[in-house]
Amino acid sequence: MSIWQDMYKKKLTTAEGIAKLINSGDYCVSNSMAAEPCSILNALAKRAEKEDLKGITHTLLNPMRDQPYLKPEMSQRIKLNALFVGNCSRDLVWEGYAEYLPGFYSEQPRNVQSRGEINVFYATVSPMDNHGYFSFGTAADLSDLAVNAQKIFLEVNSTAPRTHGNCFIHISQVTALCESKDPITEVISGEITEIDRVVGEYIAAEIPHGACIQLGIGGMPNAVAQALMDKKDLGVHSEMFTESMVDLIEAGVINNSKKNVHRGKCLSTFTYGSRRLYDFLDDNPFVEFYPVSYVNNPFLISQNDNMISINSCIEVDLFGQVCSESIGPKNYSGAGGQLDFVRGAMRSKGGKSFIAMPSTAKGGTISKIKSVLTTGSVVTTTRSDVDNIVTEYGIARLRGKTTSERAKELIAIAHPDFRKQLRKEAQKLHIIP
Ligand code: COA
Repeated sequence: MSIWQDMYKKKLTTAEGIAKLINSGDYCVSNSMAAEPCSILNALAKRAEKEDLKGITHTLLNPMRDQPYLKPEMSQRIKLNALFVGNCSRDLVWEGYAEYLPGFYSEQPRNVQSRGEINVFYATVSPMDNHGYFSFGTAADLSDLAVNAQKIFLEVNSTAPRTHGNCFIHISQVTALCESKDPITEVISGEITEIDRVVGEYIAAEIPHGACIQLGIGGMPNAVAQALMDKKDLGVHSEMFTESMVDLIEAGVINNSKKNVHRGKCLSTFTYGSRRLYDFLDDNPFVEFYPVSYVNNPFLISQNDNMISINSCIEVDLFGQVCSESIGPKNYSGAGGQLDFVRGAMRSKGGKSFIAMPSTAKGGTISKIKSVLTTGSVVTTTRSDVDNIVTEYGIARLRGKTTSERAKELIAIAHPDFRKQLRKEAQKLHIIP
């Protein structure tokens, strides 16, 4: 037995054993999404109820599974402090049982650290290699906070892919670990609608051979990816590594040969998807995962020429202000890395950013282009940052345009049923003559 295997054996306990090492008032931070250590959290929730623990804070980007610690009645014991809001946390945040911490994803590690000493860093990892290293698997986003934590706990899961990059932790750094047989969370991509397909075609026509792309999750980014099948020499620098990128790699479209930074590699900070995606990533040096403070740094992003960022939003006003994270005052999601990539793309030689959306919501009853934002809406991408807005009616090119030119561009891509009303409101607001 090697010294690392020996150390592994000594540090190995159960999820319950780790839960015993977490105390009332502890500030705990985890890698995100499918890398959340669910067995430890389940054991902690049980212990917190049984032993009356209180005031534990659990921070990560976003939980992807409904778990016992997320029950409203648990919030006095374990309170979620999310860096993004999703299906498992939206109502909890709205009702005050969980908190949202606003911020650009690139800066979230520093924001988290600014709240005080981190007592616990924990994450799901893939099994240890012969040299004593564990890979952070599906997410390395907050992993640079591990070195600042008083205790480090790992949940070793053989279904987590062993990803490459700056995403390893050594057994000597670890306080305790447990093993989990619970398969990591899988997510199946959403359907592509006819509107997604049309928008995808508009954006693909704007992407040159050799470009470097960032894609989010959802129908529209998937539709863009499908429309890129005839491109050559694309690269990836994207906070999320998506399932659609696997298709483009297997088709020979993505080879990263023209990137200026991390040439020959895809760069990402987290991933989630189907088992096919996880198998593709397992021990695959073509894709590298780094902490989000590195991947989402706009200055790094901008070093790739022809950097193309593609994201989505909730609504846009005629000034070009983009709300991507709330419906009125209710947090729908979070800022995430949208502005990191918009700014990175805008500073890249030949770079462009696209905010893509259907022209309407709620079965065509609401225009997503508004004269002014809905009261309480949060601006994610400011009018000084915005570049292109895309709907099924075309592309509004806002960069370098005056206020009235922007309004006219946006009205031209609004749904025809709302254009007349928008023009009237724009005139009333003195945006257009
Ligand atoms: N007014 C009212 N409701 C609206 C609306 C509007 N203008 N626009 C959308 N909605 C509703 C939809 O009807 C839908 O409601 P439902 O859940 O009840 O069906 C919901 O909001 C989500 O809309 P949808 O178009 O399905 O969103 P999406 O899944 O494509 O995600 C964002 C869009 C904006 C929420 C998502 O892209 C996001 O969170 N962006 C910010 C972060 C980011 O860009 N990160 C970088 C890339 S990973």
